[in-house]
Amino acid sequence: MHAREQWKSRTGFILAAAGSAVGLGNIWRFPYLAGEHGGGVFLALYLIFVFTIGISILLAELTIGRAAKRQPAGAFRALGGGRWVAAGYFGVAAAFFVLSFYSVVGGWTLAYVVKATTGALDGATAGSAGQVFNALIADPLKPVAYHGVFMALTTFIVLRGVAGGIEATSKLLMPALFILLLVLVGRAVTLPNAGAGLAFYLQLDFEKVTGGTVIAALSQAFFSLSVGLGAMITYGSYLDVRESLPKSAAWVAIIDSGVAFLAGLLIFSAVFAFGLDPAAGPGLTFVTLPAIFGQMPGGTIFAFAFFLLLAVAALTSAVSLLEVPVAYLMDEHGVSRRRAALLLGAIVFLLGIPSSLSLGVWSDFTLFGLGVMDFMDSATTKILMPFGSILLSLFAGWVVYPRLARELMQPAGDRIAIPLRVWGIVCKFLGPAAIIWIMAASLFS
Ligand code: PFF
Repeated sequence: MHAREQWKSRTGFILAAAGSAVGLGNIWRFPYLAGEHGGGVFLALYLIFVFTIGISILLAELTIGRAAKRQPAGAFRALGGGRWVAAGYFGVAAAFFVLSFYSVVGGWTLAYVVKATTGALDGATAGSAGQVFNALIADPLKPVAYHGVFMALTTFIVLRGVAGGIEATSKLLMPALFILLLVLVGRAVTLPNAGAGLAFYLQLDFEKVTGGTVIAALSQAFFSLSVGLGAMITYGSYLDVRESLPKSAAWVAIIDSGVAFLAGLLIFSAVFAFGLDPAAGPGLTFVTLPAIFGQMPGGTIFAFAFFLLLAVAALTSAVSLLEVPVAYLMDEHGVSRRRAALLLGAIVFLLGIPSSLSLGVWSDFTLFGLGVMDFMDSATTKILMPFGSILLSLFAGWVVYPRLARELMQPAGDRIAIPLRVWGIVCKFLGPAAIIWIMAASLFS
């Protein structure tokens, strides 16, 4: 058997894990959900969930991965025995489904990179940008083709392996994303009337909270941290024992929520500056930002850079999603990395096509009252991922706690005894109870 691949450096690993966490979830999904769910209260709930249950499950995933040196199916089996293997399969399957619609949106970002270079966004206003977006997503061919290109890029990076592909790409692209985001935020918050956006985004208005808000914030916290389906188990499995797991988890959570926070500042300043509707839904980022760029000197270059970096952020997340089933085929069935990546990349592409078409020619076809894309999104983020998170925390808290506690002490030692106990309580009781309660409440609301 080959030696297991490993990350080359600590920074490389953190950037790769942050690369998984930071993606469309932060820059596209978070702002539009916050816009639909009352702004400030959504932000507050999201942050609370990230730094309590979310970070605990993230830490559990990384620790399980490093202790078992396997992807989710192998890890649950190695640490918990055959009874637990189904929990791992569950994660592998969920990663697959998430990727199928994630890649469709990833394709839109590529389409916007092209639009920026061809001048299609030059001088855009909110109205014209809205038309451009609606025309793109409803087209029967173009978004499918871009989804294909996006999956091809994802497959290519995964093919090149852990250090040479995933780590190298993240190290280059994550810092660039961060710098560009800061520049854009600087521009957006100084737009006339941006203050109204900041008020919407930063003021807490508890009357707006419903059961739906709470489940949306919880599932966004999981989605954003990439937890609940074993992506972080897989990344943790390539980690050396010399790295501190709690520190790594803290860094990932800080970077991830920091980027989401900045993306919200950027989008809501612009939405209010241009008199757009914050509850406009999934088009929010794709419509608002071209409208800002269209009115800015040098806007074309900013538009190009922004959508390129959004595509890149999406790509480093998609890579972590594809790595889960790829590592599964490699570990459990002895398939080569190359074959596994090519085969699974192709299947995910096919699986994503109905999602893409559901926004245009197949819009009449619904599952449980939702179009295919909405159904995939809701089923994975509101059911599969929270359910996966319940299994993970119960497993970590009740089944393998002593083994994980030992793993976590390396190399930190007894210094983390107290945080460790808190973490154990969250995994054992608080996490599962809160998730079940929130899921149940949202069913009845
Ligand atoms: N965290 C990614 C984002 O916010 O865009 C999405 C994601 C990646 C979810 C990997 C789950 C996952 F396993």
